[in-house]
Amino acid sequence: MTNVLIIGANGKIARIAERFMIADENVQVTLFLRRAARLDGLKDQVKAIIEGDASNEQELAQAMAGQDVVYANLAGENIVAQAQAVRVAMEQSGVQRLIWISTIGIYDEVPGKFGEWNKNILGDYITNYRAATDQIEQSALDYTIIRPAWLTDKDEVDYELTQKGEDFKGTEVSRKSIAALVYHLVINQQEHVRESLGVNKPGTDGDKPAWY
Ligand SMILES: NC(=O)c1ccc[n+]([C@@H]2O[C@H](COP(=O)([O-])OP(=O)(O)OC[C@H]3O[C@@H](n4cnc5c(N)ncnc54)[C@H](OP(=O)(O)O)[C@@H]3O)[C@@H](O)[C@H]2O)c1
Repeated sequence: MTNVLIIGANGKIARIAERFMIADENVQVTLFLRRAARLDGLKDQVKAIIEGDASNEQELAQAMAGQDVVYANLAGENIVAQAQAVRVAMEQSGVQRLIWISTIGIYDEVPGKFGEWNKNILGDYITNYRAATDQIEQSALDYTIIRPAWLTDKDEVDYELTQKGEDFKGTEVSRKSIAALVYHLVINQQEHVRESLGVNKPGTDGDKPAWY
């Protein structure tokens, strides 16, 4: 049995990942979110639903006790403070395996015109997400950083990976693909440890996402 704590459990990718994990009888899910009543409908399908804030180390550390994997699906201007809190809480509670959702472009790894467009449009968001990711990469945790391309709500799982140090490929990827990758990592915890993965849909290269 794998025990997973999902932080930011009402996030759009998290909601899809939860469906994959709940359907797997070998995965036991604990949800952590603000305003927990929003997920009351899942209470019979998960181990626990915990109300808390991802910038609060104590709340996080309590929720992490006994977990095998932490999956953080977070956002916001204080993403660096949230990364610090997740890191410290994991160190305190002795949980080693972390899946952290970041974003495209944090290492200036996106080539060509799309890279310029991405940098201009995302601005400080990228700088913040990079600083948050630094917090995770500088830890001794068994992390996997996930850097999705521009997200779509297409009902498809179709993705390829690039590693840190390689050029990013493509412009878009579905949230369902990211959720599928997260679930894959939860049940294959030894894969992609201490790696930072770019994730895109194959064949979506362009100067900007097709719909933009
Ligand atoms: N849009 C894109 O094209 C794109 C591309 C690459 C990466 N990303 C990034 O991918 C990540 C996941 O995407 P998504 O669509 O699943 O995002 P999302 O729906 O915005 O989910 C983020 C979650 O973070 C939670 N959160 C924020 N601050 C929190 C705090 N202090 N304590 C607890 N929870 C907190 C939010 O909770 P509440 O519901 O309580 O507000 C929200 O549910 C985001 O960071 C996004 O920026 C986006």
